[in-house]
Amino acid sequence: MTSFVQRVMQNPLLAPVYEHAYRPALALALMGFDFDHVRHEQQHTVEALRLVPGSRVLDVACGPGLFTRRFARAVAPDGLAVGVDLSVPMLTQAVRRSAGVLDAPAYVRGSAHALPFPDAAFDAVSCYAALYLIPDPRRAFAEITRVLRPGGRVALMASAESTYGVVRRVQHAVLPRTGLRMFADDDLTGWLADYGYDEITRERHGVAQYVSGTRC
Ligand SMILES: C[S@@+](CC[C@H](N)C(=O)[O-])C[C@H]1O[C@@H](n2cnc3c(N)ncnc32)[C@H](O)[C@@H]1O
Repeated sequence: MTSFVQRVMQNPLLAPVYEHAYRPALALALMGFDFDHVRHEQQHTVEALRLVPGSRVLDVACGPGLFTRRFARAVAPDGLAVGVDLSVPMLTQAVRRSAGVLDAPAYVRGSAHALPFPDAAFDAVSCYAALYLIPDPRRAFAEITRVLRPGGRVALMASAESTYGVVRRVQHAVLPRTGLRMFADDDLTGWLADYGYDEITRERHGVAQYVSGTRC
């Protein structure tokens, strides 16, 4: 059964307002109104992924392509930025936003559970603000690892459960009913370690965690 949050992501009313209203408002609220962090989030991601001209980068669950477009600029003129998402309204908006843009990203409809790309196809893969609503995030991470070449970089942004026991218990009791999941401090870094990643880093901002690493 499709969760409430997944239905929201598929709603055509969300896609046009996602980039300039929904996401900035939510990001600021969830990250403790840390304006500086939110303003530099895309640049930090480009750095975490170590994108250079010529890189091939995949943005998993790209939504309307806000990060994908930034990646495309970083890898131009001879690189490739690809966004993949399940939602047709989000992808339609992504394509619209790239109309007439030189070095625009490519967009593909597909599921993070079974990425439609060959093994080791990318130098870098990101997945932001999505693992907490994807039904099987561990399988999505296995797919991310499969399409990333050895030596390639991964950057993830996902939820981080509360440090307060009572709040944590409420989060785990209530949020799964909506299709959302809160991750523990060592969930994502643990996956990277299990898959033998190197240079693993983790940063927390409010209820968000940023994890990066290098595939061995
Ligand atoms: C909150 S948006 C995040 C968009 C963008 N990455 C960002 O940081 O703003 C979550 C996106 O995940 C997509 N999504 C949800 N489940 C997915 C799946 N199984 N495979 C691919 N995309 C999925 C939704 O369609 C939505 O566009």
